[in-house]
Amino acid sequence: MLKSLVLAALMGASSVLAVDCHRGKKCPKETPCCSQYGECGVGAFCLGGCDPTTSFSLDSCVPAPTCEDKELKFDSLDNIADIGKYLGDSSKADWVASGEPALHDGNVLLTMPKGSVGTVLSSTTYMWYGNVKARMKTSRGRGVVSAFILFSDVKDEIDYEFVGVDLGTAQTNYYFHGIPDYENSENITVSDTFGEFHDYEIRWTPDQIEWLVDGESGRIQKRDETWNKTASLYEFPQTPARVQLSLWPGGLESNPKGTVDWAGGIIDWDHKDIQNVGYFYVEVESVKIECYKGKDGLGTSNGKSYCGDSDSGDSGSGSGDAPPSGNNDPSKFDQGLQDGSSGDGDNAGAKSSASSALAMIIAGCALYWL
Ligand SMILES: *[C@@H]1O[C@H](CO)[C@@H](O)[C@H](O)[C@H]1NC(C)=O
Ligand SMILES: *[C@@H]1O[C@H](CO)[C@@H](O)[C@H](O)[C@H]1NC(C)=O
Repeated sequence: MLKSLVLAALMGASSVLAVDCHRGKKCPKETPCCSQYGECGVGAFCLGGCDPTTSFSLDSCVPAPTCEDKELKFDSLDNIADIGKYLGDSSKADWVASGEPALHDGNVLLTMPKGSVGTVLSSTTYMWYGNVKARMKTSRGRGVVSAFILFSDVKDEIDYEFVGVDLGTAQTNYYFHGIPDYENSENITVSDTFGEFHDYEIRWTPDQIEWLVDGESGRIQKRDETWNKTASLYEFPQTPARVQLSLWPGGLESNPKGTVDWAGGIIDWDHKDIQNVGYFYVEVESVKIECYKGKDGLGTSNGKSYCGDSDSGDSGSGSGDAPPSGNNDPSKFDQGLQDGSSGDGDNAGAKSSASSALAMIIAGCALYWL
C-alpha cells in the first residue's frame, strides 16, 4: 500500500498522458486502462496490474494469464522483459521489470541507484492461491525498503516488507481491495536479512494465509477472522495476483511523513552501498511458484487467462469479446466457497462472496469482486 505512492513515479516517467484513476474515478474512453499506479493509458497500461474496476469498462484490461508452476533460478536476465518492451505474451518472459535489474555473482540484483525510485519485478502470470517462495537477501540503509509481495489488480495484497534500518525483522501484512488498514501488520524475527539468504514463503489458500521463513511457520491469518459484519464480507485477499519483488525509496522527502518514519528516515544517498557499488540492492537467488489446484470456482487455473473461457486467452486482444463459458455454474461457486469456509464461517458471507464471484464471471474478463 504505502509503496504505491512511491511507485507511481515509475510509470510516470514513461506515461504519455497523466490522467489519473482511482476508486470513484474511472479512465476515459481514449485512455481506457487504469494501471497499478493509478494512471490511465493504452498498451502497457492494459497489461499486468490493470484494474478493471477503475478502467473505462470492466473488459478494458487484457485478460490475466493463469497460474503456472515455475521454479525460477535467477541466474540470468533472459526471462526478465523491460516494461517498455513487454507486449503481454507471458510465454516470452517470466518477469516484467521497471527500473534496473542487474546480474551479479549468478544472482539477479534489484538495484536503486542514487536519486532513482528503484526496481520492481512483476510476474507475467498470476497466482490465484498457491505457494510462492523467494530466496533472497534484502537491501539495507535508512529509508530503503525491500519487498516480496502478491498484488492483485483490484489491490488485494499479501506482503513481506523489510525496512533497511531493521535487518532482524520481516514485516508481514495483507490488504483487502487496497483499503488502508495498518492493524494487520505482524513481525517475524529473522537473522541478518541483508547478509544472509533466507527463504520467504507465502502459502495462500481460500481458507488462510501462512507466512513461512526458512520453512518455519511465522504467522497464520485465517479468512474466518477477517469477517466484516457491516460490509457483510470477508476482508481477505481473494483475487488473482502477480508476484512482485521490489526495492524502493520509502524515505524520500516528498513522501508522506508516515511513510518516511516507517521506512526509518530520510534516505542517505551517500550510503556505503552507493559509494561502493553505485546502488542499493536486493539479491534474488530463486523464486518458486506452485499453483493452488482448485477443482472448480476459487483457485481454478484451467484456461489460459482468468477470463472465464479457456479459448479466449489470446493475450493481446484485451477486448474480452468472447462470452464466458465453462466452469461458471453458480452452484459450483457456492460449493467451492462453502467447502472453503470452515469452522464458524458465516454463511451469509459465503453467499455474498459467491455472488460477487458470479458478478466477476458475468462481467467477462473483469476480476470484479465487490
Ligand atoms: C515491526 O517492527 C518494526 C521495526 O522494524 C516496528 O516499527 C513495528 O512497530 C513492528 N510492528 C509490529 C506490529 O510489532
Ligand atoms: C467494515 O466495513 C465498513 C463498510 O464498508 C467500513 O466502513 C469499515 O471500516 C470496515 N471495518 C473494518 C474493521 O475494516
